[in-house]
Amino acid sequence: MRYPVWDRAVRSFHWYLPIAIGVMWWSGEQGRMDIHEKVGYSLLCLVATRVIWGFIGSEAARFRSFLFAPRAVLTYLKAGGQYAGHNPLGGLSVTVLLLLLLAQAGSGVFSRDDLLFEGPFSYWAGDLSGTLSEWHKTNWLLLQGFIALHLFAVCWHQWRKRQPLIQAMWRGQAGYKSVTSPPKPLRWAVLILMLLSLVLWGLVTIAPEAPSYY
Ligand code: HEM
Ligand code: HEM
Repeated sequence: MRYPVWDRAVRSFHWYLPIAIGVMWWSGEQGRMDIHEKVGYSLLCLVATRVIWGFIGSEAARFRSFLFAPRAVLTYLKAGGQYAGHNPLGGLSVTVLLLLLLAQAGSGVFSRDDLLFEGPFSYWAGDLSGTLSEWHKTNWLLLQGFIALHLFAVCWHQWRKRQPLIQAMWRGQAGYKSVTSPPKPLRWAVLILMLLSLVLWGLVTIAPEAPSYY
């Protein structure tokens, strides 16, 4: 029996990313912090959910199935090969992408701009808030670089090597990209997402507001 390599949780999470990150880019540059804050919370909770899913989710979504030893990455670079899930190099790059996304959203909640907006935990961060705001900007440059690399790699595999990566990320499976173990139910991921959102909401509610200097 063949099952989708990417379960519904991974696919929904993935296609939300380009949309939400586009909004974050625009709102961050334009200073639309009302939108930036809300979409940022959704990204923080979703990326954290994806990280937890990396331990308890469907087979191909687990870190253990796409984090390979350095030797396997080197072998893949020399000899190539087809993998139902992420290949060894791809696994490394999506792990970096997930960590950068976590760092971006994580630093955001401690950041403040030079005008009117303070992230909900910026007062908790105290003097570190300035450093974290700078990190938020630097990390964004790194993230942009890795997203560009990701898009280049996907296009390379899709059109140069004729592998159906995009179809698999859209439909769950395509060609050789399928697995033999059934996917974990989407409702588990939704439950994790709801719990994390509740925790974040609680923390934002109890976080002290930064003192007014006026
Ligand atoms: C902001 C933009 C994007 C980000 C941050 C991003 C991030 C990611 C991440 C984290 C994964 C790993 C999925 C997982 O295991 O949970 C992934 C996989 C993937 N992404 Fe993206 N992505 C972006 C845009 C796109 C776009 C526009 C496309 C299509 C052209 C695309 C195609 C894919 C494909 C095909 C995979 C699966 C790769 C494989 O089979 O190993 N991504 N992406
Ligand atoms: C993955 C999620 C996020 C992305 C992609 C993102 C992206 C950005 C970008 C592109 C900027 C403009 C940087 C610049 O002007 O050079 C920015 C600024 C900012 N973001 Fe985010 N952000 C994210 C999450 C958050 C969150 C959750 C918060 C807080 C609730 C936040 C708070 C801020 C603040 C306060 C600034 C202004 C920093 C300054 O001007 O010094 N961000 N962000």
